[in-house]
Amino acid sequence: MNTASTTEKASHYDTRAGVALIHLDNPPVNALSHHLRVNLAESLTRAGQDPDVHTIVLLGAGTSFCGGADVRQFNTEAATADPMLAALIAQIEASTKPVVAVIEGVALGGGLELALGCHHRIVTATASLGLTEVSLGLVPGGGGTQRLPRLIGTAPALDLIQHGKRVSGVEAVKLGLADAVFDADPVTAVLEQVAAAGDTLPRNTDESVVDFAARHASVNNKSRNTIAQHAAIDCVEASTRLPLQEGLRYERARFDELVAGPESAALRHLFFAERQAPKVADLPADTPIRPVAEAAVLGAGTMGGGIAMAFAAAGIPVTLYEREQTALDRGIDRIRANYEISAERGKITAAEVGERLSLIRPSLTLSDLASADLVIEAVFEDMDVKKEVFRSLDNICKPGAILASNTSRLSIDDIAAVTSRPQDVIGLHFFSPANVMRLLEIVRGDATSPETLVSCVKAAQRIGKVPVVVKVGEGFVGNRMLTPYWREANFLLEEGATPQQVDHALVRFGMAMGPHNVADLAGLDINWATRKRLAPTRPSHLRYCKIPDLICERGRFGQKTGAGYYRYEDGSRIPRPDPVVDEIVVECAREAGIERRPISDDEIVERCVLALVNEGAQILDDGIAQRASDIDVVYVSGYGFPAWRGGPMHYAETLGLDHVLAKIRALHAEHGEHWTPAPLLERLVAAGETTFLTP
Ligand code: NAI
Repeated sequence: MNTASTTEKASHYDTRAGVALIHLDNPPVNALSHHLRVNLAESLTRAGQDPDVHTIVLLGAGTSFCGGADVRQFNTEAATADPMLAALIAQIEASTKPVVAVIEGVALGGGLELALGCHHRIVTATASLGLTEVSLGLVPGGGGTQRLPRLIGTAPALDLIQHGKRVSGVEAVKLGLADAVFDADPVTAVLEQVAAAGDTLPRNTDESVVDFAARHASVNNKSRNTIAQHAAIDCVEASTRLPLQEGLRYERARFDELVAGPESAALRHLFFAERQAPKVADLPADTPIRPVAEAAVLGAGTMGGGIAMAFAAAGIPVTLYEREQTALDRGIDRIRANYEISAERGKITAAEVGERLSLIRPSLTLSDLASADLVIEAVFEDMDVKKEVFRSLDNICKPGAILASNTSRLSIDDIAAVTSRPQDVIGLHFFSPANVMRLLEIVRGDATSPETLVSCVKAAQRIGKVPVVVKVGEGFVGNRMLTPYWREANFLLEEGATPQQVDHALVRFGMAMGPHNVADLAGLDINWATRKRLAPTRPSHLRYCKIPDLICERGRFGQKTGAGYYRYEDGSRIPRPDPVVDEIVVECAREAGIERRPISDDEIVERCVLALVNEGAQILDDGIAQRASDIDVVYVSGYGFPAWRGGPMHYAETLGLDHVLAKIRALHAEHGEHWTPAPLLERLVAAGETTFLTP
């Protein structure tokens, strides 16, 4: 066998029995950096010129073919430096020797486009293939929208591209996206494939007509990537009427427009933000991680049940403890009902329902928690109850067990102080429904050890959560910001708006739900209890709106009592305006000496969103959040802030920090001390900074 080898930086080149093997070697996922593209072009030329080579193979070094473009290089010179992906693909298409992509692991985005430019694709059964650019607010820019429809048919291609769907190797072969599955030596498989197919390209003959107008009309305008989805539909439509080269130019123009636009900038910001959020700067790199093989949850209420389901979904056995049989039965029944709904909707199989239920062990005996590696308390939000629970846990849990509280606002430090092992105590603040919502605020107490912290980050990732590490402080990050947000939402009522107007304005801005809708859903009693708890420390000279208190005093705690800011007819979740609330609002305004006036939607959005931004800046300054981007992750993944706006802090940066400060100063002048600009914002603007300067 004739073997030659040269090692280059981002790819390397071997030959074996007349086959040139070009390995993409740019860990971790062989992203198509400029360097790799240069190396690939050189290797392709070399293989083309080598008289001993009759077949060329592209494959990934390591476990993946190629994860796509180098996202960090978007909008930089490196992204558009020659050779661009399109030129590489043109080089492949012009090759007189067959070029075959051997796909293991992932072929995503530009990685799949590179493979689509090859004459053949062979895949492992478990490979994952997709044009996932829409998840970053983009369309494929290397010909994917033109070549995929030509290869597999317009409708199936559009389904994959518009939704950034991934398919397995097996599915790819069924779709005609890949030629064959291989499971042994790829070179043998390549040679077989080339011999079988000759040099004719498989082409799809699917003539089904796609109704593109209907596809546009069906794009959900609350999606995180509406603009990209419309552009994807346009590009696939172009593939049906333009010759390839013109189609490629059209696609590239749309890509260029999107990559420079705000939606993609916001989604790319969040892509990095999510990866950054679990990282903690001051931890030793060699901090040991405690494995979580067994979990336990105390309290089978709304949160406890959902948390147990999140562990079961990841295959981790979990003991669910309650004090009384009826509460335990209720909790387990709710879990079972949840699973049954998921099974009916086809989200999980009947077998999975059985498996997951078998992983959740109901218990009324506290000592059953003794063997758990991680115990999460989700009992009533009452400091005395929590302290009692932690004292008991301290007595029965094994040494080294992590003791976590799901408290939404209480001090982890105060809870930790009642145990003999505060280093093992931490906050794990899940969001409702805990089996669905991806956000997890990991609250690091003063005494929490690095080991406890990193172990929780790992466990969170294992159960599919997006962990954001925060510090102890009233309401941590997310709920603390809700306080001024809801404050403004209520002030606006007093000043002349209605709950439905406030909610509609914020939904139009892009929030998943309006603040009053959220309050009714979450239950008004929880915040009422918090306000009563904090009342003694509330400065008496500050404006205070009594509307939510008066609503609660009438026993209206939101949807669960059939009334809150809105009223709900029996069994319905549809909010209906309620004259009783209008009366409360008018009464509060009169008592406060406020003359009600017409309020514009713009004012509603400005006041509610800037309240988030100003508090966010203060949270950063207080060191409760490590980075502005962490706050964005919290708000987008836990509080329904529109992803396409990148989160409140990113949004503020796009508005201009100077502009934001000017607005906050104006609100301060008009509405007083609540609007004192965050000193961090003042300092940044004074220094001419345009971002929050966090890493
Ligand atoms: P819940 O009232 O639905 O459930 C609490 C459960 O704990 C009840 O089933 C109760 O029987 C049980 N319980 C009370 N004392 C207990 C004890 N000593 N031992 C065992 N079980 C006990 O309350 P929810 O909404 O699930 O809240 C639980 C915790 O999660 C609270 O700290 C809350 O602040 C927090 N949280 C709630 C969120 C929500 O949206 N509901 C969101 C995030 C956190």
